[in-house]
Amino acid sequence: MSLVESPVRSASSGIEPLRQEIFALKRKLNAVILAHNYQVAEIQDVADYVGDSLGLSQHAAKTSADVIVFCGVHFMAETAKILNPSKVVLLPDKDAGCSLEESCPADKLAEFQKTNPNFYTIAYINCSAAVKALSDAICTSGNAVKIAQAAPKERDLLFVPDENLGSWVMEQTRRPMTLWRGNCYVHVEWTASIIDRIRREHPGAPLVAHPECVRAVRLLADEVCSTEKMVDYCKRTTASAIIIATEAGMIHRLQRECPDKKFIPAPTENCRCNECRFMKLNTLEKLRDCMANLHPRIELDQSIIERARLPIDRMLEISARN
Ligand code: 13P
Ligand code: SF4
Repeated sequence: MSLVESPVRSASSGIEPLRQEIFALKRKLNAVILAHNYQVAEIQDVADYVGDSLGLSQHAAKTSADVIVFCGVHFMAETAKILNPSKVVLLPDKDAGCSLEESCPADKLAEFQKTNPNFYTIAYINCSAAVKALSDAICTSGNAVKIAQAAPKERDLLFVPDENLGSWVMEQTRRPMTLWRGNCYVHVEWTASIIDRIRREHPGAPLVAHPECVRAVRLLADEVCSTEKMVDYCKRTTASAIIIATEAGMIHRLQRECPDKKFIPAPTENCRCNECRFMKLNTLEKLRDCMANLHPRIELDQSIIERARLPIDRMLEISARN
């Protein structure tokens, strides 16, 4: 979704001076602000583009801006840097990580790959640049099925690091894969029993779930898809209320795109566990500060950039096919 800088939508008037500072810095730096669908509302509202990991990578690949301000998590900003090695890539909070990225250290993956020289490694984009450099193809939740289908038939597929996305891809493609045992600490919070309860409370409301959810939840869903495809589904459906099983920031994006529909965030058992603590480290103040200081900035070894670029380019090329 592309935005213009004038309208104040969800932002309260108290933050207007901060927004204006950000717009001024953006012009001064010739910067583009890219934001993931899970970012806080105030950040989504100042971004030039808001979307899922695939849309963000595609935007990063074609931007003519000199500075990329990436409001998301570390692996997303790294991907933008790999695609734009000569540009400055900023991340408002350098500690914005991801439990999936943490679950798959590059040295452990390299060790495991030695157990089968015929492995073709598909890495979910939620991994470090070093893991990307060890992979044959990258995928996002928006194109994982397509990437697995395009993998050479004679190779044994290894899917890292999300076992839930991996098992969903296997169900869709009927192609066996060895799965790395990682997961998203947010999406595994939803259970079949809690989803069952919310569905009974809202009869007639379809359930849309992210493929990082466990199988028992995916089986109860009317649609399983990436965050951007959730927007498409919600625009298309005739239902006036939709239950959403993904990170809480998504509701703001959906409400903007479909103002006449009601979105019901699927509850988790005891806590606000549907908020990703990493995504929520970024704030509007930190966004302004990183632009003012040109820091924190993503820096990567040239050799990692070169090796990680190949599987990302492969993903972008396969994704562009009809
Ligand atoms: P999407 O690519 O579907 O936006 O997912 C990113 C992510 O981190 C999900 O937890
Ligand atoms: Fe990672 Fe999960 Fe947060 Fe997405 S929601 S960034 S997969 S920890």
